[in-house]
Amino acid sequence: MSNPRIGTFLITCSAFLWACSLATTVEYDSNAIIINGERRIIMSGAIHYPRSTSQMWPDLIQKAKDGGLDAIETYVFWNLHEPTRRKYDFSGDKDIIKFLKNVQEVGLYVVLRIGPYVCAEWSYGGFPMWLHNLPGIQLRTDNAVFKEEMQIFTTKIVNMCKEAGLFAPQGGPIILAQIENEYGDVISHYGEEGNAYIKWCAQMALSQNISVPWIMCKQSNAPSPMINTCNGYYCDNFKPNNPKSPKMFTENWVGWFQKWGERKPHRTAEDIAFSVARFFQRGGVFQNYYMYHGGTNFGRTAGGPYLITAYDYDAPLDEYGNLNQPKWGHLKDLHAALKLGEKILTNGTTTEKQYGNSVYLTTYTNNVTGEKFCFLSNSDDSQDAQVDLQQNGKYNVPAWSVSILQDCNKEVFNTAKVKAQTNIYVKKQATIGNPLNWVWTPEPMDDTLKGLGSFKAPLLLEQKGVTVDASDYLWYMAEVFINDTSSWQNATLQVNTTGHVLHVYVNGQYIGRQWGKYDNLHFTYENMISLHQGTNVISLLSGTVGHPQYGAFFDMRDEGIVGGPVKIIGSNQKTTLDLSTSNWSYKVGLNGETQRFYDPTSLNGVHWEKNNVPNGRPMTWYMTTFETPEGEDSLVLDLQGLGKGEAWVNGKSIGRYWPTMVADKNGCSDTCDYKGNYEPQQCASGCGEPSQRFYHVPRSFLHQNNNKLILFEEMGGNPFNLNCHGGKTVSEIQFASYGDPQGKCGSFQKGEWESSYSMAVVEEACIGKQSCSVDVTNSKFKIRFGGADGRLAVQLLCDGSDPNDGRVQSVHA
Ligand code: GAL
Repeated sequence: MSNPRIGTFLITCSAFLWACSLATTVEYDSNAIIINGERRIIMSGAIHYPRSTSQMWPDLIQKAKDGGLDAIETYVFWNLHEPTRRKYDFSGDKDIIKFLKNVQEVGLYVVLRIGPYVCAEWSYGGFPMWLHNLPGIQLRTDNAVFKEEMQIFTTKIVNMCKEAGLFAPQGGPIILAQIENEYGDVISHYGEEGNAYIKWCAQMALSQNISVPWIMCKQSNAPSPMINTCNGYYCDNFKPNNPKSPKMFTENWVGWFQKWGERKPHRTAEDIAFSVARFFQRGGVFQNYYMYHGGTNFGRTAGGPYLITAYDYDAPLDEYGNLNQPKWGHLKDLHAALKLGEKILTNGTTTEKQYGNSVYLTTYTNNVTGEKFCFLSNSDDSQDAQVDLQQNGKYNVPAWSVSILQDCNKEVFNTAKVKAQTNIYVKKQATIGNPLNWVWTPEPMDDTLKGLGSFKAPLLLEQKGVTVDASDYLWYMAEVFINDTSSWQNATLQVNTTGHVLHVYVNGQYIGRQWGKYDNLHFTYENMISLHQGTNVISLLSGTVGHPQYGAFFDMRDEGIVGGPVKIIGSNQKTTLDLSTSNWSYKVGLNGETQRFYDPTSLNGVHWEKNNVPNGRPMTWYMTTFETPEGEDSLVLDLQGLGKGEAWVNGKSIGRYWPTMVADKNGCSDTCDYKGNYEPQQCASGCGEPSQRFYHVPRSFLHQNNNKLILFEEMGGNPFNLNCHGGKTVSEIQFASYGDPQGKCGSFQKGEWESSYSMAVVEEACIGKQSCSVDVTNSKFKIRFGGADGRLAVQLLCDGSDPNDGRVQSVHA
């Protein structure tokens, strides 16, 4: 198979726009991204700036660079920056320009996915909720109102980047930009207007004159010169719609996201490496990990419904920014191996030879120098392959793996042979001034339990249209006048809602609550109530848990008790009162939210009660003070024991919590087979455990001391056993084997041979240390025979004061 170089797309910088002396040119053809004339393959990783803090950015970006990446990719989150129409916010952790400059300072490129529809498991896909209520608007289609807003925001971001000199032709780091996001998935639902919209997106993007190429992911009809790209777990079969376009993999999902009640997904390092190596074997030019660092959905930014607060994604950097090993290290080794062939891959012609059913040798030959670089892949999901390349050597290619052969005769990497270390982080209780002293205050509901809202309507309204996302909560309140109570003593109240959570009060009494599930949003609440003579008040508090972000017309999906029906069925089962068209009274949000109970600096006159701190009481605010744990370790808050709500540290929201949402107790296994096409249900962990028990408290949210933790507990919980966890040093080596160890962390076993000094060498190097490093060589482990060096598997426990650095470095010689 030959793959000659096809044409070059050149973008030049126009003198009046850019200072050309600093300019970096970005061009491409089907074989390379060409930066300043140099033909490149690009390794990129997604780090979403609002899912960490500005204090964390430099470290995350540096770790990405150390992991062998060339570029950082991020979306731009419209609803973060324009929460109110034309009132922009780029302050603090929302300072995207600072983030992009941080990337530049570390010496990496930027792939800016402006969207501004982003999906990303981010609330409402990044759309500000006010868009929803603009007269005449239809989102993501050929609609003038929407297009105008989209253009205004896109232009604003582009102009900010231009002013900061951030596009490559200005000497900045941005080498690629994206408009829209996976519209190809939904275009058929929008008819002709969908096609017109995509053409408009392309024209609008090009009119921004950014002088770097634009991409459109999963857009098989992307108008030239927009480059359509692939997202998924594997993209080796992908072909861009334009033969001049480079083959780009914009989202290689390194794991998956999690919903309340779900298990934690994992994807093995071996399978990701296989996917990446296959992609480059088959002509790939650009590859981006989605996510490289997933991070945290602070505040109410998690999408939905029912997405959890952590967005760990099983990414190479974990939620807190620690190395997730062996993933980070294995991919680093892969990047180094691929880069050995960069010049040949980007200047080469390819030939392919088949060895048996699923085994292929792809040979790249440099057109100029004649140098060679090979990929030998075995995509059989169970049988290893022995391949004899004659004078170029014999190779054992394990099932579902790719070997990278430098000069086509030396194996420098195999995707299934993991040499990187494995880490397990241990959470250890930190000193925060235990025991915590709690004070509390009830959510004020005098008005809403009496049915007093701020406006009325004779129907049951859709929730997000009313709240405009000012809060998760909306009160729906109605009065029912009863003359003769005889059939209403043991009546049944029925509330039909589209979700996500419902609390019910009748005449000021708490009657009950119910919630849906990620796979079953609609539910009908039903309970016995007794009405009295005269006016009765029904107060329904409806809560949303993240707005949807994906699918055709996701923005129009109903939330709350819209339309109902809400009914009271008399005790005789014959008389029914349908309240759906009563004169409903509404109130957006909690009084405690409006009065900023979560903000310890606000003078809201709240009386925090020291006595009789309740346990299991719904609609309760709690506050405590804690000391800042020493050191730099990541901190998490253990919220086991609480029900559902939101938590704030020094007035900053660390997100929604819901530790009572427990994952299915079945479907997890200790071992995880990397072979075969990956599905997120595979290799899950956390069966029978809360989907999220631990909540990230970024160090930058803390004061030197005297930190205030405030909780709003909606369901009723017990705050008395909360713990703050920090981290530690190596205290115990549980397993060490130098030789041919098998298995994975948690279930390592010695292989066919091992050094009897394995434990002693590792203990000496590591016990009591925050980090340690051991030469992985025969001589270090006193092996005298002359063969190749072995591998080292270590399982250790960290304890003491710094867990984040409590990792063993294995250096494979
Ligand atoms: C893609 C989307 C991303 C993210 C991902 C799943 O479809 O483009 O934004 O949602 O799926 O994590």
